[in-house]
Amino acid sequence: MATSSSDSFFIATPIFYVNDVPHIGHAYTEVAADALSRWMRQSGIPTWFLTGTDEHGQKIMRTALANGVTPREWADRLVEQSWKPLLKTLDLANDDFIRTTEERHESAVKKFLTLLHDKGFIYQGEYEGFYCVGCEEYKPLADLEDGAGEFEGSKLCPVHSRPVEVLKEENYFFKMSTFQQDLLDLYAAQPDFIQPTSVRNEIIAFVNRGLDDLSISRSNIDWGIEVPFDSEHVTYVWFEALLNYITATGWGSDDEAFAKKWPAVQLVGKDIARFHAVIWPAMLMAAGLQPPKKVFAHGWLLVGGEKMSKSKLTGIAPTEITDVFGSDAFRYYFLRAITFGSDGSFSWEDLSARYESDLANGLGNLASRVIAMVHRYRGGVVPALPSPTPADRAIAATMKDAVAAADAAMHAFAPHEALGELWRIVEDVNGYITEQEPWVMAKDDAHAARLDAVLYTSLDALRSLAVTLSPFMPQATSKLWEALGASHSLGPLAEQHIPEAGSFGVLPEGSAISELAALFPRIEQDS
Ligand code: MSP
Repeated sequence: MATSSSDSFFIATPIFYVNDVPHIGHAYTEVAADALSRWMRQSGIPTWFLTGTDEHGQKIMRTALANGVTPREWADRLVEQSWKPLLKTLDLANDDFIRTTEERHESAVKKFLTLLHDKGFIYQGEYEGFYCVGCEEYKPLADLEDGAGEFEGSKLCPVHSRPVEVLKEENYFFKMSTFQQDLLDLYAAQPDFIQPTSVRNEIIAFVNRGLDDLSISRSNIDWGIEVPFDSEHVTYVWFEALLNYITATGWGSDDEAFAKKWPAVQLVGKDIARFHAVIWPAMLMAAGLQPPKKVFAHGWLLVGGEKMSKSKLTGIAPTEITDVFGSDAFRYYFLRAITFGSDGSFSWEDLSARYESDLANGLGNLASRVIAMVHRYRGGVVPALPSPTPADRAIAATMKDAVAAADAAMHAFAPHEALGELWRIVEDVNGYITEQEPWVMAKDDAHAARLDAVLYTSLDALRSLAVTLSPFMPQATSKLWEALGASHSLGPLAEQHIPEAGSFGVLPEGSAISELAALFPRIEQDS
């Protein structure tokens, strides 16, 4: 069994189907993984962030055919024109991007199948049942709905509201049932293996009901990875897609690299938690590999009360938001407004309101007024901090507490809470400036030392905010960092260590600050 480094952080998103272009539900998974990985990386933890695309299977094959191209051409087009550009749209700092059509994936999948076959965990049998192409999943009869209207007489997938297909074919099966007790033992030994608790309970109940073996090959399609011991079959798309987490990190080709990274934290939407918390660890157990460190299931973005999806015509492209509000606001909004792990409703009104109150009037206004006052009253030079008063010390205390609490929240996968904590700094410093009235102090030289203290305290709080908010809003914080002159006085923003960012008195006195353009400009609203 490979040994892993317990003090590293390897986070992976699901790999995305390329049958269609990205919507904000996909983007939500991506920005959460990105903020978490940036936070860990900036905390000095060796970090690896993996994302990618899921390109085989019936769904993609049919879409390609409907568009008159080969599945490979379709996948290449979607990856290059839509999925890779999403990384830029959202400002993602992923370390790798895996496509399941890459050779490194295909060869390792074959190796994995051979291993399980040799170990006796794969056998041939007959599959008869229902298949939803939208989900790329075999469905138990009990989960299906009765069709009405145009679908009268058919059984419908409850997710897609479309008829399932009846399948009857010779398949290879993975002996998943063998791992029922091992899985239950894993969930019991590691209570935070599946989060949140609601999903954990659901999974435990599901496994307790007993596990069937899993059909892992298909003989009626050819768009997939050939089963190495039977060229008439391709691998079931989910079975090979799950393997991306280890094929991308060197399993089967670079054991040393793999041992450094594995196991991963799997960030998934709750609709695919079962694949990641049941099938995936069972596959790994069969191969003698460690299960993931954790499977964290986030909720759905709802539009009009329903899971947003392209198939239900409620999909919103991420660029519709980023073109207007920018990528920082996109990242901030979804990570702040929705409790991570719960569903959240998206609305343009809510997004605009948060942009206005939290970003433009909150952080943005605080940064511009402090920078402007330092230019106006102190010639753009960071003043010294003369002996602090209780009011200054209170800000220092907020910085310390808020950063520690935000750090704990990020380690607990609660970015919404981390942002709430950091916003205490924004609110307290805004209130402090209003109370201290530096503009009144500036009128009388007798208050020069107090004015220095108020300006210094505010600048140092901005320094701390720039560091701790950089995983969430990389662009605005790097502008702020430049304005604070901090890349000269303290070095690159990405190298600032987050756990100490709440210490007070870090910004060196005497260093020059520069101008700051509005971090979050007003948005012209269509009337
Ligand atoms: N290809 C599979 C995953 C294979 S991983 C080995 C897949 N792809 S997907 O493109 O359909 O979905 C990818 C992710 O996007 C999932 O985590 C899913 O939950 C998430 N979302 C899709 N729609 C969503 C919302 N409306 N809201 C939040 N996330 C949603 O499943």
